[in-house]
Amino acid sequence: TQRIDGARTVVLVGLMGAGKSCVGRRLAARLGRPFVDADDQIVKAAGLSIAEIFTVYGESAFRDCERKVMARLLEAPPSVLAAGGGAFMDTETRALIQRQAVSVWLRADLDTLVSRTVGRTHRPLLNTGDPRAKLQALMTERYPVYAEADVVVDTGPDSADQTTHAVLRAL
Ligand code: S3P
Repeated sequence: TQRIDGARTVVLVGLMGAGKSCVGRRLAARLGRPFVDADDQIVKAAGLSIAEIFTVYGESAFRDCERKVMARLLEAPPSVLAAGGGAFMDTETRALIQRQAVSVWLRADLDTLVSRTVGRTHRPLLNTGDPRAKLQALMTERYPVYAEADVVVDTGPDSADQTTHAVLRAL
């Protein structure tokens, strides 16, 4: 573990369904740090669900809120932080993550993402149209940017425990 210096937060990035929350919880336990889910913190701060924020105020208001919450969480004592899938796409947030944290991209293939997101309706970006096509489009748009993370770990149909071990080895 050369990249973990005990002082920096580990931020998990990747698409919806990549396993950021599942793996993040396990990783935090292994590292003896708190686990923080950025989406949960946004919901708490706004007093509305993610879907409600999107419907009532729109995606750009959600991104504003996400940027503020991420900045606050990155100032807090070292944790394992599961970012929302879009957080690393925001120039400002990405710069903050790159300066203050160790970023880990959980890279997953399309089938894995589809299988882990079907039937879960809390993600507004996947609630209109064909979720598979949407995820494919997001992969094309986002994977070149996620590739700027410090560490890349491939995750497929393997268990969250296996992926957690892979992250620990890669750190
Ligand atoms: C989003 C991902 C979601 C949530 C919001 C937008 C995205 O988080 O922040 O629905 O743009 O990829 P998860 O990746 O935790 O599902």
